Amino acid sequence: MTTTPIPRKGTAPGGWPLLGHAWQLHSRPLEFLNSLTAHGDLVRIGMGPHPAYVVCHPDAVHQMLADSRTFDKGGPFFDKARVLFGSSLPMAGWREHRWQRRQMQPAFQPDRIERYAVVMGEEIDRMTDRWRPGQRLDVSAALTTLTLRIVTRSVLAAEAEDEAVADVQHSLHTVIDGIYQRVMLPLGPLYRLPTPGNRRYRRACDRLHRAIDGIIAERRARPGDGDDLVAMLLAAHDDDTGEPMSDEDIRDQLMVMIGAGFETTANTLSFAFWLISQHPEVEERLHAEADRTLAGRTATPGDLGGLTFAQRVISEVLRLYPPGWFFTRVTTAETTLAGCQLPAGTALLYSAYLLQHRPELFPDPERFDPDRWLDRPADSLPRGTHVPFGGGNRKCIGDQFALIEMTMALASVCGRWRLCPDPGATLHVRARGTLGPGRLTMTCEPRGKAADG
Ligand code: HEM
Repeated sequence: MTTTPIPRKGTAPGGWPLLGHAWQLHSRPLEFLNSLTAHGDLVRIGMGPHPAYVVCHPDAVHQMLADSRTFDKGGPFFDKARVLFGSSLPMAGWREHRWQRRQMQPAFQPDRIERYAVVMGEEIDRMTDRWRPGQRLDVSAALTTLTLRIVTRSVLAAEAEDEAVADVQHSLHTVIDGIYQRVMLPLGPLYRLPTPGNRRYRRACDRLHRAIDGIIAERRARPGDGDDLVAMLLAAHDDDTGEPMSDEDIRDQLMVMIGAGFETTANTLSFAFWLISQHPEVEERLHAEADRTLAGRTATPGDLGGLTFAQRVISEVLRLYPPGWFFTRVTTAETTLAGCQLPAGTALLYSAYLLQHRPELFPDPERFDPDRWLDRPADSLPRGTHVPFGGGNRKCIGDQFALIEMTMALASVCGRWRLCPDPGATLHVRARGTLGPGRLTMTCEPRGKAADG
């Protein structure tokens, strides 16, 4: 890719003893990540006292993602998340992962997604039917409610009005933010002090556990009920031992699935509505496409062929602001990456944000340009270049779920409503557990059916 004489292995400047680059990662993480490409293809940083290498070259990222046995999940920061999410799918080492993924993959087959799409449509209607002309809307909150209701109803096969589901929804934000803070600022015993923040985090974890345990207990009492993810997990048996999954394992799987499946999609949609409000020509084309294809009704998966521009908008939003902006791996054996020897136990980090803002790969990378996907669909790019859903056998299990949900929501809203930003409003990108737009307030202006009604 690059012909500049950048050393393949480098070190990020500005690290502090014990803290490493924790401050840069906490205070200006995106700028810090983007600055690393100047120092090599594999750049050493300090995450607190622990060293890690950021993999900056797409070929090396592809090699790492394709070989999940040598480049396994793990590392010192990963262990913090394991405390809460156990050995669930995203946390599991490669050996358990293969079995787990086999158990859960059927829940994401196209016929299942068609079923979830019915829930998606109902929830999109529920959200947009409540909007009123001229209403000032907390867009990020509305979209978070939308995606959380969709994923909890799909994954738990439960009604979003259930008390337990409301508890899950309430606690998840606090838990996800708490984990992020513990990963980025590994202050060890300080997190055990009874500060208000630590107490809030603990309470949210307990509440989340109790809520999901209640749902599992209820389903165990009705064995053979349904063919959804909960039923699949209740029926799963270990290949070697024949043991079923424990309630605790099932709880971890469900919690992680919901945790991974709502903020990611809500943030992408929030960024999308912000970006189109700043690019009237894109907005106009989205409105025209929605009018042509939907004529005011809610999108279904059958409409995707007519919503190609909406899909390009989503691809471009995922490029500019990938919600999963960094992930970690650890080497399980001595290996070579980007021409460098790495001992077993080396911590690695890859960032979709960094890769997708490299100007050699995406010219004028800060420009929002859905048409950059016109001649080269996202799946035709060199591997390791556009990785909002990761890659290899650890690739996001919910990628099709998310893409269909986001396209349906974007097009259906555009067919009925125009979301207008407050005068002088600016975007505050927030890089925490996920990359998000913070609080985003916009005003609803009716179009089509909403204007008539
Ligand atoms: C815009 C939406 C989404 C984005 C950008 C996204 C991104 C990702 C990424 C990058 C990974 C791989 C992480 C790694 O390499 O370590 C991942 C894994 C995962 N995602 Fe998503 N995700 C999204 C939506 C969803 C949804 C809707 C669900 C579930 C309903 C979901 C469930 C998962 C799970 C369970 C894994 C772990 C897969 C494994 O290790 O086998 N995600 N996601």
